[in-house]
Order: sequence, then C-alpha cells, then structure tokens
Amino acid sequence: MNEIKIFSPGTVANVACGFDVMGFALDSPGDEMIVRRINERVIKIVKAEGFNLPLDANKNVAGVALLSMLNEVKDEVGFEIEIFKKIKPGSGIGSSAASSAGAVVAANKLLGDPFSKTDLARFAMEGERLASGTAHADNVAPAIFGGFTLVRSYQPLDIISIDTPDELFATVIHPQIEVKTSDAREILKRNVLLKDAIRQWGNVGGLVAGLMKSDYDLISRSLEDAIVEPIRSILIPAFQEVKLKSKEAGALGGGISGSGPSVFMLSRGQETGERVKMVMAEIYDKVGIEYDIHLSKVNKEGVKIIS
Ligand code: HSE
Repeated sequence: MNEIKIFSPGTVANVACGFDVMGFALDSPGDEMIVRRINERVIKIVKAEGFNLPLDANKNVAGVALLSMLNEVKDEVGFEIEIFKKIKPGSGIGSSAASSAGAVVAANKLLGDPFSKTDLARFAMEGERLASGTAHADNVAPAIFGGFTLVRSYQPLDIISIDTPDELFATVIHPQIEVKTSDAREILKRNVLLKDAIRQWGNVGGLVAGLMKSDYDLISRSLEDAIVEPIRSILIPAFQEVKLKSKEAGALGGGISGSGPSVFMLSRGQETGERVKMVMAEIYDKVGIEYDIHLSKVNKEGVKIIS
C-alpha cells in the first residue's frame, strides 16, 4: 500500500472545564487527505484545496507534524500530501489538529503502524505548536483516539480515552469571525486563584465520572469553566445568550469550543440537539452575524481510513 485516503474529524477542545486537557471528536465537519509514500526523505504538500494553506512543509501544520515523525523513522522514505480542507482555520473546531492528526495517522498506516497513538499525538502536537505557539494536545488527542480524551500529563505525554455515552450529541455554531488561538491564549491570566482551581478540578473530575457512568445530570453540572471562559467569552458575540437559551432548550451545557469563536453545547438525544441548533441559529440571525452550524454525534473512531 503506497497511498491512503483518510477523513480527519473536527474536535472540540477544553469541553468547558478542561482547558488544554479535555477534548472530543465530531462526526462532522472534517477534512479529507490523501497521503502517498515516496522513496525520498522529504515531505511535499502537493495540493491544498478549500482554504489558502502554505505548501511549504515547514510552514504547514501537516508538514511539520510529518517532519517530526520522519525524525524517528530510519528508512529512506517520505510523503506527499493532498489536503481537502473543510474545517475553516481559526474556527475553534480543531482545523489545524485535523490536518496534523490526519497526516500522521495516514503516514503511520503506510509505514506498517510502527507508532502508538500517543506517539502520533506527540508528532501532531508539533503542528499545534506551529499554529498557535503552544504544543497543546487537546484537539489532536481526540482526533487520533476518537471519542473523549483526557491529557492527564504533558510530560511525559499521557493520554486517556474516556467512555462516550451513546446518546450524547454536540451542537457547534461557528460565527464567521476569526479568533486566533495565539491571541486567545495571550489574553489569559498566568495565575489562577485557589478557589477557582478548586471549582475547576472538581468539575473536571465530575465530567470524567459523568461520561464514564453515562450520568447526564453529572455531565451537565460539570460543564462549567471558572477560569478561561470569563475572559475569552468577551470575544464572542451573544455568548451568554447562546448559553442561556440553549440550556432552556434542554442542552446539558457547553461553552467555548477550543479557543473560539465557535460555541458548543452538549445534549442528550438528537431531538434536543436539533432544538438547541434552532435556538442558537435564531440568536445569530437576530444579531446579524453569519454562521455555520453543525449537529453531530460524538465521533468514537477518530481519523478514519476511506480508501
Ligand atoms: N486548549 C486550547 C486553547 C485549544 O483553548 O487555547 C485550542 O483549540
């Protein structure tokens, strides 16, 4: 096998309380990529459709992720990549992670699976470093592992898969404004108050337990962010109204998707997810901001081989 086509999912990082440690994968939107094995120690981005992406491998997140993988491969081998981008960069739905995770999963298959999923996340994180200035793993981990993931530790990298309750649906609205992850990180305070930290780790534990027990009420109670959301939400139009009205429509809760501007809400069941979708859309129609909106099951598989 010398060529592989994959689907790489969008992801929601942070999941309210878990800044830089929690994330989950979506069924849609997602990118497609073709990765080809070549007999030359080089990474070539031969096509990038959908958005204006750099073709220089050193400036492209998928290229950088593959270069970092190639450092640990002894064979005389390299890769050509074609990217069909559907997730808009700067959307907060893991656009850069989809490219870097998709590239390393595909390349690993073409090499005969020598690397573990945690190794692949480590390579893909180099793409995140290029995109945002920080090698965070909370988008690449769910893209690679599927479902919900917890980054228990960065050094050493320790990624834990968390069970995904079957009836969980995510509604994600992407207002058409751009928030750069690097900017959204820059505005955060460097220190947190102990009382906020206590609330936050209580909620992270609650969210993990709620997911593992399929306890939807506990998930709902735990979807609270005392640290990051109060600062970042000012960048997102109508954020408080979206949250309030979505919960009134039956959502379990939600928050900013990654570093924004997308906002996600989790619901139990598709019908509630559809109601939340309507409510979110109505708010942005009223405010007069264009948006994309997606209702998706949580994707338990992660990057998928199409052919
Ligand atoms: N955890 C990262 C952040 C995710 O919130 O900055 C970026 O998608």
